[in-house]
Amino acid sequence: MVRTIYSFPEPKINNIFDDVYSPSEDTYLIIDYFRENIDENYFDGFELAKIRNVLDMGTGTGIIAIFLLLIKTIVPKFSPQIFASDILENAIKCAISNENANNLENKIEFIQSDLFKTFPSILKNSFNILIFNPPYLPSFKFKSESWDKKNTDYCWNGGKEGFEVFLEFIRDVKPFIDPNQKFYIYYISSSTTNLKKLNDNLNIQGFKNKILKKKHVFFEDIILNRLEKRND
Ligand SMILES: C[S@@+](CC[C@H](N)C(=O)[O-])C[C@H]1O[C@@H](n2cnc3c(N)ncnc32)[C@H](O)[C@@H]1O
Repeated sequence: MVRTIYSFPEPKINNIFDDVYSPSEDTYLIIDYFRENIDENYFDGFELAKIRNVLDMGTGTGIIAIFLLLIKTIVPKFSPQIFASDILENAIKCAISNENANNLENKIEFIQSDLFKTFPSILKNSFNILIFNPPYLPSFKFKSESWDKKNTDYCWNGGKEGFEVFLEFIRDVKPFIDPNQKFYIYYISSSTTNLKKLNDNLNIQGFKNKILKKKHVFFEDIILNRLEKRND
């Protein structure tokens, strides 16, 4: 069978807020992987027709959600509802302005929320593909009482070990996953954290981790991973 090779456009992104994360190497590790692994029938091996809802958690400028929306306009069988969420009000404002800049007004469902805390219950059991480029660097000032937390901390501060925010996401994600299909959770991790400990934790919680891509940037490797349900 001949596979259609699409050339997906680059989203137009203006970051008008200093406290919103500008797309970086980690962002493009995700986007470029999607570019290479979506065709007319499959999203990275997942049958397009079976994908219901997609979530971009911690959307920042909205670039990943907007990229997926652009794919939706090009690939006929890719027709999920796209949701994007962030804890920061400015990130949601920025992502909406970027959605408009790409002439895709009102196509993404935005939710301002600390992880899933204020997600409507109607979204339970609905997501098949979830993406989280989380804050992933370790920091001692995480949740310490003396910490005067700034918005920019949400961009990078993953907690004392670097993966506390991500593990909180993992703890709370299960009720929102569609139980009738398989699911994929894409996320970024960093070699500056204890990856064995993170992986053991994910294993215990019933997830199988696959490393998809790595890139060396300055002092660390950033890693794109994909989680699925462990079948055993
Ligand atoms: C590394 S940035 C990624 C931004 C964007 N997805 C990208 O790849 O360019 C992490 C994002 O997660 C958001 N974030 C951090 N903690 C969060 C939380 N508890 N709930 C929701 N979003 C959070 C931050 O505000 C920030 O936009």
